[in-house]
Amino acid sequence: MTAHTEFDTRELRNALGRWATGVTIVTAPDGDGFVGMTVNSFTSVSLDPPLVLWCIGLDAWSLDAFAGTEHFAVNVLAADQIELSNRFARRGEDKFAGIAIDVGVGGTALLPGCVARIQCRMVARHDAGDHAILVGEIVAIEHDDREPLLFHAGRYGRFLPAHE
Ligand SMILES: Cc1cc2nc3c(=O)[nH]c(=O)nc-3n(C[C@H](O)[C@H](O)[C@H](O)COP(=O)(O)O)c2cc1C
Repeated sequence: MTAHTEFDTRELRNALGRWATGVTIVTAPDGDGFVGMTVNSFTSVSLDPPLVLWCIGLDAWSLDAFAGTEHFAVNVLAADQIELSNRFARRGEDKFAGIAIDVGVGGTALLPGCVARIQCRMVARHDAGDHAILVGEIVAIEHDDREPLLFHAGRYGRFLPAHE
């Protein structure tokens, strides 16, 4: 490997994309409905108090709804939910058509078939470059033994345990 001190956005994306993550859909209430977007910047922050964060692009269509919400829900996707991930990675409204959601604390959308669903109360926003870091305190959790969806170098993948 060779270190580059000058790099363009594509090279930056390529290097940062080597960090393997899960895939989530974060939702919030929006008027009579919901907003939701595919997010892999989600991470745990603190156990006591229980805090998580994720980052939203300042150019996101749903920024105003997420910036103004008191609650958000993080739906951690399962390996068979690639289609859902792609649907919520498209800009704009009407992503929830035909999905049988549960309504979470504060009017968030909880999606079916997920690995985990983490409901949060918004506690802080920190602007950072072209994104905002949204911090939530967890108010409810649930999880299942499904296989998670992973994301690495711009591609979806599956978890392969190192040992049986
Ligand atoms: C795997 C994956 C992860 C993503 N992670 C993020 C993220 O962490 N933050 C973000 O702002 N956008 C992320 N995106 C892009 C948004 O999902 C996309 O911009 C979406 O159109 C935003 O919805 P909106 O414009 O309707 O608000 C990700 C997309 C994919 C496919």
